[in-house]
Amino acid sequence: MLSFWALTALLAVAAWIWLRLKGPRSRLPPDLRGPTPASWILGNQPEVVLSEAGEANRRWKAQYGAVYKYYGCFGDEYLVLNDANAVQHVLKGQTTSYLLDKSLREFLRLVTGEGLIWADEADHARQRRLLSPAFNTPFIKSLAPTFAACAFRLVTQWNQRIETEGDDKGGWDVEAYHWMELLTMESLGLTAFGVKFGSLEGNQHPLQTAYTGLIGSAYSHPSKLSIALGAAVLHIPAFIVHHLQKLPLPGISKFKEAQRVGRKFADELMAKKRRLLETNHVLQDRDFITVLVQAGEKNQKGKLESMPDEEIYNNLTTFWVAGFETATNASSFALIELARNPDMQQRLASELIGILGGAADRDLSDGFSTDEVEQMPYLEAVVNETLRCHGPIHSGLFRAAGDDLIPLSNPITTRDGKLNSIRVQAGQSIICSFDGCNRWEEVWGPDADQFRPERWLRAEAKEIEPDKQCGGVYANLATFGGGPKACIGYRFAVLEVSVFIAAIIRDFEIALSRPDWELGRDGSYIGTIPMERGRWQGGGRCPLRVRRRRSVM
Ligand code: HEM
Ligand SMILES: *[C@@H]1O[C@H](CO)[C@@H](O)[C@H](O)[C@H]1NC(C)=O
Ligand SMILES: *[C@@H]1O[C@H](CO)[C@@H](O)[C@H](O)[C@H]1NC(C)=O
Ligand SMILES: *[C@@H]1O[C@H](CO)[C@@H](O)[C@H](O)[C@H]1NC(C)=O
Repeated sequence: MLSFWALTALLAVAAWIWLRLKGPRSRLPPDLRGPTPASWILGNQPEVVLSEAGEANRRWKAQYGAVYKYYGCFGDEYLVLNDANAVQHVLKGQTTSYLLDKSLREFLRLVTGEGLIWADEADHARQRRLLSPAFNTPFIKSLAPTFAACAFRLVTQWNQRIETEGDDKGGWDVEAYHWMELLTMESLGLTAFGVKFGSLEGNQHPLQTAYTGLIGSAYSHPSKLSIALGAAVLHIPAFIVHHLQKLPLPGISKFKEAQRVGRKFADELMAKKRRLLETNHVLQDRDFITVLVQAGEKNQKGKLESMPDEEIYNNLTTFWVAGFETATNASSFALIELARNPDMQQRLASELIGILGGAADRDLSDGFSTDEVEQMPYLEAVVNETLRCHGPIHSGLFRAAGDDLIPLSNPITTRDGKLNSIRVQAGQSIICSFDGCNRWEEVWGPDADQFRPERWLRAEAKEIEPDKQCGGVYANLATFGGGPKACIGYRFAVLEVSVFIAAIIRDFEIALSRPDWELGRDGSYIGTIPMERGRWQGGGRCPLRVRRRRSVM
């Protein structure tokens, strides 16, 4: 049978011949600066993919300015934007003038159906409207106790391990990344489906198995061949990708089986909710299924038509794909920063114990509320700073739908002079560097590269001139994107990460389990993954030495 990669290789060759025949395709102003590509096949792509997240961009930004171009594989030209106005302009134009790459979009359809990430224009706006009840502020705020009770289950497990596996000083070494995966998964199970997986207690729920199978394996430090194949995938014409699902490839059948299992389980859940809804007018359960089963749109007769089960299910899949790894990686980065900055951890712990009480005074099995979270400015500062320095998605890739003029906050110097805006032509690939915006010195100061939560406690951090705003939905950060396609789950994510960190740091003192352990931020294509510098295998890492916190401070 033809393997997926054999097929890719075949198509890559076809793409190669086709591109060669088409000749050079430069669409950018010729005087725009940027690095020289090493070869036509790979371009500058190895430098981007094999260096740490955002690193190549920082180097090139310093050399060529906030807006420059580089070459991807097969002569593809990328326009890179680190300029606030420019990024804001592109983010605002999503769904109309700046779209997802067509082939990428077809791949997305395979995973999430014709959902929110996939949709454009009117259909996108309609979907956002229909889903809004699941993301409105009061509903999200009501989820804090669920997140907190879940995190307390992790704390309980860790306490047991300290008892049984800890050393005589009460210290226990743990790979916390894996636990953050379980915690995020468990929280999504409860808040999306209203189902307790029991993964923190070592159980494996069929729905969890199905959903875990949806996400591909980590894409760290690929070989040069994989880099070329990865780029070739983007040259597979969209109509072929559209039919990929029908091919008898082993990866695809496994994937479909996962979808079938998940679907069957969710169908039963939804049927149960609908039966309950017939007898009870309003369901009180706090999870997305309940909210969406009750939501809907008024039809012409003014009667509420609820969302079909299939649409609800597919949307939950989208939330899972978009919300699982992102939140896991963000929480792990926060723990790593606190582990290597004991002063910050101490300050946070005092604040937490002041509001929540110490472990000896208050058991958190029923969780705590958003009101309590909102009384902790230092916690907020730590989370904001984590999202600024370690945004789990370091850049966004867009494609210009038509010709356009992109305005700049600061003029750039080209070989021939200065430009106040950049002219782009239809089809141009554009990379918005979220990491670059989040570390812009003009906004964040000369220490923009440093992790320093204290910067958020100054009032002026909140007043940023319009010309310096990147259009981000949260805290003038680009972390959650912006415009009509900004992350719909950002309030969910911020609350979730804050609650996880609060519950863990209130009860444990954490340090890196090896003092020589150095954080390396692996930059897969768009993701930022916490790993050990120089050891780019086996997925995310967060090695901690944990001990019970002494409550008296
Ligand atoms: C720290 C965690 C998270 C980060 C950093 C993150 C980041 C992002 C980014 C950068 C985008 C694209 C924005 C754009 O194109 O302008 C996005 C979109 C999206 N995110 Fe998140 N996200 C996170 C958590 C979540 C969670 C928890 C959920 C759901 C429960 C979620 C659901 C979505 C959805 C559905 C979209 C697509 C929105 C649309 O196209 O209209 N995300 N996210
Ligand atoms: C998600 O829900 C919206 C609103 O009902 C629907 O239009 C859309 O098709 C759903 N997404 C999927 C992937 O089914
Ligand atoms: C964190 O960012 C949010 C969103 O902008 C803001 O409301 C909050 O005040 C920030 N927290 C701190 C401590 O500055
Ligand atoms: C999070 O980390 C995992 C590695 O464990 C990686 O596969 C994934 O791409 C990362 N996700 C994001 C959104 O950065």
